Amino acid sequence: MTLQFFDFPAARDDLRADVLAGLAAQPKAIPPKYFYDEAGCRLFAAICAQPEYVLCRTERALMEQHLPEIAAAIGAVDCVIEPGAGDCLKVRALLGALHPDQLVVLDIAGAPLAAAAELLANDYPGVAVTALGMDFIHNLEAAAPYLTADRRLVYYPGSSIGNFAPADAAALLARFRQLAGEAGQLLIGFDLKKDPAQLHQAYNDGAGVTAAFNLNLLARLNRELDANFDLSQFRHYAFYNLIAGRIEMHLVSLVEQTVSVAGQRFHFNLGEALHTENSYKFRSDEFSAIAASAGWKLIRGWEREGFAVQLYG
Ligand code: AVJ
Repeated sequence: MTLQFFDFPAARDDLRADVLAGLAAQPKAIPPKYFYDEAGCRLFAAICAQPEYVLCRTERALMEQHLPEIAAAIGAVDCVIEPGAGDCLKVRALLGALHPDQLVVLDIAGAPLAAAAELLANDYPGVAVTALGMDFIHNLEAAAPYLTADRRLVYYPGSSIGNFAPADAAALLARFRQLAGEAGQLLIGFDLKKDPAQLHQAYNDGAGVTAAFNLNLLARLNRELDANFDLSQFRHYAFYNLIAGRIEMHLVSLVEQTVSVAGQRFHFNLGEALHTENSYKFRSDEFSAIAASAGWKLIRGWEREGFAVQLYG
């Protein structure tokens, strides 16, 4: 097996600065990438197993159903790049079908990534695996020197792109274009607009796993930034904003309270929201327009049960 792991610890020093800035802002907000400490990664995996959250299962079924066509449409590829690869499970199907020389996986959660990449490298001895522990939103360009192979495919599954507002999504896709090169391709999965009641349920599961995932952000700040959030005084609140076309997740203060984080004090009014995530939902044509503005041409698309995968070149 071939595995190389490089950690970019500087990419994670942003937590303190981003959280302090986000709590001082009006409305208060913290970027969703900070959900994913080790507990957050486990909770996200648990969300994917909830009956209401069909996104991960639907994408997996779509990939299974159409894999031969998808692989044929992609053609020969030397290098697969997956930003935000997490547990590295989604890319396995693709590796089996495409047989690239190199796989480059990137994730802000460096330690879980290294562990997942090792399992992957063991199972795919013909693929040189390069794992980069970095916040690719800031550091994507730092991956360029590690790409040894020529025909490149950026794989961005799971509707991760939904965390970005359309203009930011376009900017990120343009950076993927730069990294992949003119001959490069993009295979991307995103959640489609659908019945708001179904979307609402997906982010308000009956077992409360999404609530625990949201609240874990505060627990993380208690652990890592010496904060004193009382988790019982905040409520998970998620709803579909159909004007903006996105699920919004918030943590709502149930009382008037003051919290200290990294030596600074922040006041919450009764009912005040801390905005923790946006998950945009798209129509296929809407998404293609965003991708086109980033220099990507649609090659083919597949849909299944409210989820879409599109291939661009
Ligand atoms: C990983 C960003 C696709 O937005 O649906 C799941 C994260 N948040 N439940 C999503 C998430 C709450 C997920 N993404």
